[in-house]
Amino acid sequence: MDFIPLTRPFLSASAISAIISAVVSGDLPGNGSYSERARLELQKITKTKHVSLTTSCSHSLELSCAMVREHSVGVGRDEVILPSFTFTSTANAVLNAGLKVVFADVEPETMNLDANDAARKINSKTAAIMPVHYAGVAADMDAFRALAGKDIFLVEDAAQGIGAYWKDKHLGSIGDMGCISFHGTKNISCGEGGAFLTANEDIAQKAEIYIEKGTNRTQFLRGIVDKYTWVSRGSSYVIAEPLAALLEANLPEADEIAAQRRRIYERYMTAFAEFANTESVRLPVIPDYAKPNGHLFYFLLPSQNERDEMMHYLHRQKICAAFHYVPLHSSPMGCALGFRPEDCPVSEELAGRLLRLPLYTQLTHEQQDYIIENVTAKLRGHADNCNFRPNKQPFQLRRLG
Ligand SMILES: Cc1ncc(COP(=O)(O)O)c(C=O)c1O
Repeated sequence: MDFIPLTRPFLSASAISAIISAVVSGDLPGNGSYSERARLELQKITKTKHVSLTTSCSHSLELSCAMVREHSVGVGRDEVILPSFTFTSTANAVLNAGLKVVFADVEPETMNLDANDAARKINSKTAAIMPVHYAGVAADMDAFRALAGKDIFLVEDAAQGIGAYWKDKHLGSIGDMGCISFHGTKNISCGEGGAFLTANEDIAQKAEIYIEKGTNRTQFLRGIVDKYTWVSRGSSYVIAEPLAALLEANLPEADEIAAQRRRIYERYMTAFAEFANTESVRLPVIPDYAKPNGHLFYFLLPSQNERDEMMHYLHRQKICAAFHYVPLHSSPMGCALGFRPEDCPVSEELAGRLLRLPLYTQLTHEQQDYIIENVTAKLRGHADNCNFRPNKQPFQLRRLG
């Protein structure tokens, strides 16, 4: 068996010719016809009035936080609540906008932001709540909408969310602003890229200026002004045409890719169900309100040692298995910001036990069987000289949704 990677990007049948046409056209900078068609496709998929393509989800998050700052700092609100269990980009976006990071813990069932802990951290300075839809499984948006009320922005980090839904709404389209990633590891990708979504007219107008270096170039391209000029603070977040062409070719497949990936996900869930019954692994819980996109499959081992042992064993079998985010609140930067490991105990404990297995559309049945056989063999070994005790699972699991 050849080495099995953790992820592989999907390429639609027309992807290569699309990118070549864009390069040959000579129209390389952003905001051209490829970008416009990709933008409209994403608008259709997400049913969102205003969509901007960006260079990355990191930049979409920075843009969102810049918008939050613009509307909130003047009224004395500068704190943003986000999960500690996330990628650095979520927190960097807050800091880069001059706002304050407030880490909250995650639910043990989904690894998504815990609404109860977020509620405890809300105060008169809270400017925004930023739930992350981990693994393309929707966070509890009813709870966050209720917490945010009218005075607090709700910004979705839907980096992993293309093709996934909360109830019947596409992830990223539910809050005041939403951010999606098209990085090479995502279900739909153009190498590096992202999107910014909003239904708020005022924010949409400001955002399209911000991403074009603080100019009204987009209005100029629409023929609304006869020349463009510097009108506000901004940055350069516009995606180049060849990448937009790749995105345009891949995007229409988003739902089909999600369906294929969910089938692979379900095979893992079924294969490991017997171990979940004996509590030698813990499987993710999918809340009733979530329609996931099979972005990634993870499970939890009883301890970090057992997780690391399993990971190294799988590597020796030529299977790439990987841990995921290292909690931000207890990272060197988190500690420098004044957080302590005990601030987010669920993130601290579960991040060390989490293991991801390969999941991508090109993964064959044969390869998946090989992965399942190896994980199963190792788990049975565990069960034989069982050093696992159910009380190592300190978190009470609930039914969600
Ligand atoms: C939760 C989360 N937010 C943001 C990002 C950043 O996305 P990008 O690589 O498009 O900047 C990632 C990357 O995987 C992520 O997992």
